[in-house]
Amino acid sequence: MHGGLDTRDYKNYVDGQWVASSSGKTFENRNPADGDDLIGTFQESNADDLNAAVDAADRAFQAWRLTPAPLRADYLYAVGNILKRDKEAIAREMTREMGKVLQETRGDVQEAIDMAFLMAGEGRRLHGVTTPSELPNKFNMAVRMPLGVAGLITPWNFPMAIPAWKGMAALICGNTVVIKPASQTPLSVVMLAEAFEEAGLPKGVWNVVTGGGKAVGEPMLRHPKVAVISFTGSTDVGRDISVACAPQFKHVHLEMGGKNVILVMDDADVDLAVDGALWGAFGTAGQRCTAASRIVAHQKIYAEFVEKLSARAQALRVGNGLDPQIDMGPNISASQIDTIAKYVKIGRDEGATVTAGGAALTAGGYSKGHFHQPTVFADVIPGMRIAQEEIFGPVTAVMRCDSLEEAINIGNGVKYGLSSSIYTRDINKAFVAMRDMYTGIFYVNAPTIGAEVHLPFGGTKQTGNGHREAGIAGIDVFSEWKSIYVDYSGALQRAQIDTEEV
Ligand code: UN1
Repeated sequence: MHGGLDTRDYKNYVDGQWVASSSGKTFENRNPADGDDLIGTFQESNADDLNAAVDAADRAFQAWRLTPAPLRADYLYAVGNILKRDKEAIAREMTREMGKVLQETRGDVQEAIDMAFLMAGEGRRLHGVTTPSELPNKFNMAVRMPLGVAGLITPWNFPMAIPAWKGMAALICGNTVVIKPASQTPLSVVMLAEAFEEAGLPKGVWNVVTGGGKAVGEPMLRHPKVAVISFTGSTDVGRDISVACAPQFKHVHLEMGGKNVILVMDDADVDLAVDGALWGAFGTAGQRCTAASRIVAHQKIYAEFVEKLSARAQALRVGNGLDPQIDMGPNISASQIDTIAKYVKIGRDEGATVTAGGAALTAGGYSKGHFHQPTVFADVIPGMRIAQEEIFGPVTAVMRCDSLEEAINIGNGVKYGLSSSIYTRDINKAFVAMRDMYTGIFYVNAPTIGAEVHLPFGGTKQTGNGHREAGIAGIDVFSEWKSIYVDYSGALQRAQIDTEEV
């Protein structure tokens, strides 16, 4: 198992073997906090490598689907325990490759552990439906079937949690898996594969192919033996995936952008709301789909809220996430820093006021990484681009409102619908917002982040395509229904026809 902070050559995991890409090409993965720190080289795979992995997964499928689900679950329990044992070492490697602070990477591994145990428990449920028939001496039920090979395209911001959300739900249903991890965080997915290997998972059930979206992701979308694609990433890429999968009517589960909002009412505990906004906006350096990138504050507490939030944002210590003194790590790449800087300029040009941060950090100890100050915009108008478009960085936009109704309208006035929250001490306001915010996730007196694995995760509008992952909803993505009618009357009975009219 991993332990040391070393540099290694990592291979693809195909058919239970660690194999080089057929081209022999590799790519480098470097620490976003320190470009001198080379984490490892990974396989720059191509369509041949992907095809080999899909073939292996397809061969493994028949035996895996016939393995009783409670026995499939045993592998997940084992993986959960391995991850638990190695949590600290994995978290350190994850911080090194992804940047977020250790406390958060420990949470990421914990989310994978939680999902392993949740889905292992499903091995003894996987409930279907039993229901009466309209005819006598006939038995009706509906059961879940696995789909076949599940193709997973996973992001860098939750490098182990999200592959676990998808992959463990896929496995317990009886599917086999091929994962293409984000090229910024392949090591976390390799470490997850190592855990499955140690658990003795049959070969070909879990496969990892690293490489680019064009070279590996696209052939996965078009491969006739891949039955379902589950993707987390940007809305633009999600749309392309949807289009690419349409000709084969491949099942597609998309988890995409967000522009999540915290509503702070005039009766809120302002200090609590500031705590929540700080964590929601700047946790993971704002690189969560669920990040609180918008805040709507009632005009009565607006000035106090902006002042307190800005002071707290200013005081956050930014740096290498392995240092326990640090509150916020780097962003993932130089190009992400460029995007953030572009939006900060757009916000300024639109007339919003920077009340904290507003610049990339490039001097001294920051020079080898991709750092940006936690940034608060005040005086934001709902139509501004910084209040509409996902930035995926440590930037939040504070707007004013006069009423709950206006707050909800502003909150719903974006193309995304992942997460939202309200801070209020008025239960009536909380329930109105709970009913009227059109998002897949909603919090009361908590920020927009912090989803737990046993509830559905996903969003409305351009955040998703109607599916949810995690919880039981995750099982729906990776299974399909078979309705079964057993007639034990010994005679032909015709539904809708041989039924007595009352
Ligand atoms: C994501 O933002 O992509 O609720 C996932 C949360 C985490 C998962 C976030 N448990 O913020």
